[in-house]
Amino acid sequence: MLLLEARDLTHIYRGDVHALESVSFVAERKSRIAVIGPNGAGKSTLFKHFNGILKPTSGEVLVRGEPITKENVREVRKFVGIVFQNPDDQIFSPTVEQDIAFGPINLGLDETTVAHRVEEALRLLGIEDLRERVPHHLSGGEKKRVAIAGILAMEPQVLVLDEPTAGLDPRGVADLVAFVNRLPEEYGMTVVFSTHHLDLVAEMADYIYVMDQGRVVGSGTVGEVFARPELLIRTGLDVPPIPKLIRSLRENGVAIEMAYTYEDAKRSFLEAYARRR
Ligand SMILES: Nc1ncnc2c1ncn2[C@@H]1O[C@H](COP(=O)(O)OP(=O)(O)OP(=O)(O)O)[C@@H](O)[C@H]1O
Ligand SMILES: [Mg+2]
Repeated sequence: MLLLEARDLTHIYRGDVHALESVSFVAERKSRIAVIGPNGAGKSTLFKHFNGILKPTSGEVLVRGEPITKENVREVRKFVGIVFQNPDDQIFSPTVEQDIAFGPINLGLDETTVAHRVEEALRLLGIEDLRERVPHHLSGGEKKRVAIAGILAMEPQVLVLDEPTAGLDPRGVADLVAFVNRLPEEYGMTVVFSTHHLDLVAEMADYIYVMDQGRVVGSGTVGEVFARPELLIRTGLDVPPIPKLIRSLRENGVAIEMAYTYEDAKRSFLEAYARRR
């Protein structure tokens, strides 16, 4: 069964802003899905439909095969957790610890379980030392991690991250990539994220949706989408540096295997080099 599905989803904001036009999207269990597209493409709007924050103008969103309704929206929000693009939309408690506890308390969990989940989330995000701090006074990257921890503590099956790497320093980005990649295997979670860092997409995703002007203009595996430079360029995006470089080498007669991630590219280069010697 599909965990999450959008069927023919259209969203028109007040003022006749057509933010989504007939979008179809599916997420299977334990998949890692990237949604890419220029500013204003509709990524955040799509995400806000995934747990009923927005209501479709037309079309529908199904969670575990069931359309989201007023009756099941509470259950849906346990199942699909969304970390907003702007952490200030999400963080409001007097301390980091209390902020992360807010979601689990709201789920009606007992004190011991809440404490346990808060600890786990602090640990997973590497922010134990921030526990007593006032969220409002944290740096942008610190707030981002607190916002992710708060949703994670609710243990959703589907974790939706809107621009999770925006504002993170290089170490923070590397930590986040490693963290996201553990979720499907270790916790059976499904991860959906948006990003403008195209070089991270292959590191964090198996499948890609490309959006532009409220529509899905392309989708496929990382290999399929990054093999379509014309689609990416037309959308105001670009092929990320690793496949771009390897493609160019291949076009210039170098016998080298295509690769998308840093590790695969390293292997391709070493193999090409070894063959040459
Ligand atoms: N609350 C709102 N009311 C009216 N229009 C909105 C609202 N929120 C978003 N929009 C419009 O909907 C369109 C899609 O916006 P959205 O935030 O979903 O894009 P995005 O792909 O997430 O962009 P970004 O990369 O900048 O985060 C834009 O044209 C935006 O101006
Ligand atoms: Mg957005």
